[in-house]
Amino acid sequence: MEQWLLPAGVTDAEGLVLREVPVPEPGPGEVRITVRAVSINARDALILAGPFGRAGDRDLVPLSDVAGEIDAVGEGVTQWAVGDRVTDLHFAGWDDGPAPDDRGGVGLGADGDDGVLAEQVVLRADRVTRMPANLSFAEASALPVAGVTAWNAVMGRLPVGPGDTVVVIGSGGVALFALQIATAAGARVVAMGRREEQGERLLAMGATDFVNGTTVPGWAAELAGRCGGAAKVVNTIGMRAVGACLPALAGGGEVAVVGLVEHGSATLDGDALLGRELVVRGVSVGSHRMHRDLVALVEREHLRPVIDRTFPFSKAPEAFRAQAGGGLFGKLVIEVA
Ligand SMILES: NC(=O)c1ccc[n+]([C@@H]2O[C@H](COP(=O)([O-])OP(=O)(O)OC[C@H]3O[C@@H](n4cnc5c(N)ncnc54)[C@H](OP(=O)(O)O)[C@@H]3O)[C@@H](O)[C@H]2O)c1
Repeated sequence: MEQWLLPAGVTDAEGLVLREVPVPEPGPGEVRITVRAVSINARDALILAGPFGRAGDRDLVPLSDVAGEIDAVGEGVTQWAVGDRVTDLHFAGWDDGPAPDDRGGVGLGADGDDGVLAEQVVLRADRVTRMPANLSFAEASALPVAGVTAWNAVMGRLPVGPGDTVVVIGSGGVALFALQIATAAGARVVAMGRREEQGERLLAMGATDFVNGTTVPGWAAELAGRCGGAAKVVNTIGMRAVGACLPALAGGGEVAVVGLVEHGSATLDGDALLGRELVVRGVSVGSHRMHRDLVALVEREHLRPVIDRTFPFSKAPEAFRAQAGGGLFGKLVIEVA
């Protein structure tokens, strides 16, 4: 079978290597998956550039998010059968409840955990979950990171509902899932971005307002003025943007911090935070329980993840370049078979 490898020291998509390797055999407690689709995330561009997610001189099979069919089960596996359609779970060690200190690494395709950019992969039987019955493999491959992260941001800890407003930022995988999940929960969605055509497409998807953050520096206050104050901002920029997000919130509202672009320390307005009892919460993808809840919602509401573009397996490096290039509207997916 064929597999892509990110050799140690390589930090450019040109350096990815397609190689022939033996078909892996599932051991006790493992399943083998015929890979149908793999989605790429912003994290994967960070891992390619390193040093985040790169373990010194170790070669790495990249990417974490897989959808496919189980084609073999190892000894002792009773919960899965050949033909089951599954995706991976991002964390090996987080079933339910708050995030444990040790979630079992930072996901597949990072550090010491080989990823899924291959024709077949072997995973622990408890590292996979049923994919939504109504989705294609390409659509389902968008769930493990982008979908579950958006679910956690919108419905975790302080879930939104009818009468609430949610602010989404940009049009990446997480933002568009957040828009769909918040809308399904009965909330209103307003958006900030930096391109007018992006705004038109966000409005067409159901956002009721769009503000261009590059031309309206006080975008958060502007959105609050239009919607009466939001219950939630899904901050897909990063910690350093938290202060800029606070004016969007109504009293008691939450900034769910997702983004890794502007990572680092935030300078916050203490009067606003304390006086209006605002909440700042970090989001770390999510648990198996959140993943299952998302699958149920996708099936119940017939949600279809938004795919910007697909790439054939042989052109995987182009997907990495597209991810790093920005300007996305939804997910980038590599179709494998
Ligand atoms: N904490 C977690 O567990 C977790 C999980 C998933 C993702 N993430 C992080 O969350 C972020 C979003 O992930 P994603 O997969 O949705 O990324 P993505 O598909 O690459 O999309 C990023 C989107 O954010 C927009 N954007 C970035 N900075 C912006 C800014 N300053 N103002 C307005 N728009 C901005 C981009 O717009 P342009 O097209 O204009 O560049 C793009 O639409 C990434 O930083 C990712 O690493 C974190």
